Amino acid sequence: MSDQEKPSSHNHEPAPGAGHEQHEAAAYGDEEMVHVHKQLERENGEPEEGFTPVPLALMVCFGVLFFWTGMYFTKYNGDFRPDVFSADWRPGSGGQQGEVAFDPIKRGDRLFSNNCATCHQADGNGVPGAFPPLDGSPWVVGAPERFVKIVMRGLQGPVEVKGNTYNGNMPSYGENGLDWDDRDISAITTFVRQSWSNEAPAISEELVAEVRASIADKSGAWSADELLDMHPME
Ligand code: HEC
Repeated sequence: MSDQEKPSSHNHEPAPGAGHEQHEAAAYGDEEMVHVHKQLERENGEPEEGFTPVPLALMVCFGVLFFWTGMYFTKYNGDFRPDVFSADWRPGSGGQQGEVAFDPIKRGDRLFSNNCATCHQADGNGVPGAFPPLDGSPWVVGAPERFVKIVMRGLQGPVEVKGNTYNGNMPSYGENGLDWDDRDISAITTFVRQSWSNEAPAISEELVAEVRASIADKSGAWSADELLDMHPME
């Protein structure tokens, strides 16, 4: 027997002379009334005046969170130095933090992997027919000026390396290219000159600066012949 079919209640006697409304109200028995109110109660809390206090657990949560952020911020604010995460930060350029010694080989290694290795390969052997090797190349381990000039302006046209001829385009890392500074160019050339089987002396920032000044007028990439005129193969 469904609720709808049960038309009335046991306790609710319709009042004598009850009208239409009373008859309708009577159609809901006490049980149904209680049931409906229980539902309403479950869905909406009893309205009351004033405001409900924030639960204690939530306040504790926020307290812990604020405390933690405060501690974290105090510890890791980096003195609010804008250059604190800069890859170009130089020891001694401000900030009283302990000085980090500049390691040209580490720096050169990173510059090499991020730039040169795509073409010349991580092992410095290049790609036959496309990119010449740097490992054992006289262009690398020979006259330092020649190597610095290649990095600063790039190289194009035929070039012979270890008995093979290449003819491609080597990009520029100088003013007309990626614009690396003296320190980075000294780091990359030193790294390449001392990697794999190469064992040539380091190239100093001073030398890079001198070469930079001497080629200020040169705009495009070098050709191999141009470089060999200035610095013949040893
Ligand atoms: C886009 C590819 C490419 C990248 C990147 C590149 N090179 Fe080259 N590199 C070449 C090509 C091609 C040549 C040969 C150019 C020619 O044929 O005249 C060359 C030639 C050279 C040479 C002279 C030849 C030899 O093998 O010794 C040196 C030295 C050199 N690159 C060093 C570097 C260094 C250092 C870097 C990173 C700073 C670098 N290259 C990045 C393509 C590249």
